[in-house]
Amino acid sequence: MNKWDKIFSNNPQFKPLNEHFLNLLLTKIKKDTNPSPQKMVDFGCGTAQTLFQFSKLGFDVTGLDFSEVALNKVQQKIEENKTTNIKLIKSDLSSEKINLEADIFLCSWVYTFIDNKEFFLKNVAQCLHDDSIFILITPVTHQGTSYTEEDKINIAVDFEETIKLLNNIFSNVEIYHHDYIGFREDYVTFLIKK
Ligand SMILES: C[S@@+](CC[C@H](N)C(=O)[O-])C[C@H]1O[C@@H](n2cnc3c(N)ncnc32)[C@H](O)[C@@H]1O
Repeated sequence: MNKWDKIFSNNPQFKPLNEHFLNLLLTKIKKDTNPSPQKMVDFGCGTAQTLFQFSKLGFDVTGLDFSEVALNKVQQKIEENKTTNIKLIKSDLSSEKINLEADIFLCSWVYTFIDNKEFFLKNVAQCLHDDSIFILITPVTHQGTSYTEEDKINIAVDFEETIKLLNNIFSNVEIYHHDYIGFREDYVTFLIKK
């Protein structure tokens, strides 16, 4: 049982994607990138409601995660709701090659936990087509800032290093949104193209 299986055994309640934000994101994606996105992939879906949010909007949804416990819980909900447009794949994003096609790829609150980030991002780059978008949402820390334990830096990645790595791998990286919380927390949404 990996660390995440243990966490999901206790039924953590991770928050869904904010619906106002999701609407804004989809409006922007339809205007700038793809007028009719149909397929979405959620990297590190956990038991999040994101899968069901996109499913209700009519997307063909694929959720990937390496936690068997999380995937079993989602599968149970899929069956209870008689949902037909969500498929689940068990995969370790740090080491297993992904070969999926989609219009929207989402990775929300997962990136920090992926050990081999370069491997993961290069893999994502290969999955993107010209009209795909990769939405990366992650807590970040900023160089030169002093943090305390309450700033939850254990779930954050270095902002400058992340931008550098993204720019090395992708041609177009937009810092679309910051959620500034508390004294120093910063949750960034990157919109990334092939
Ligand atoms: C904080 S949870 C976020 C889940 C979901 N995206 C959400 O927003 O609620 C982190 C998720 O990343 C998954 N994860 C962490 N490392 C992973 C890896 N190397 N491969 C696949 N999934 C991973 C965990 O199993 C867990 O479901």
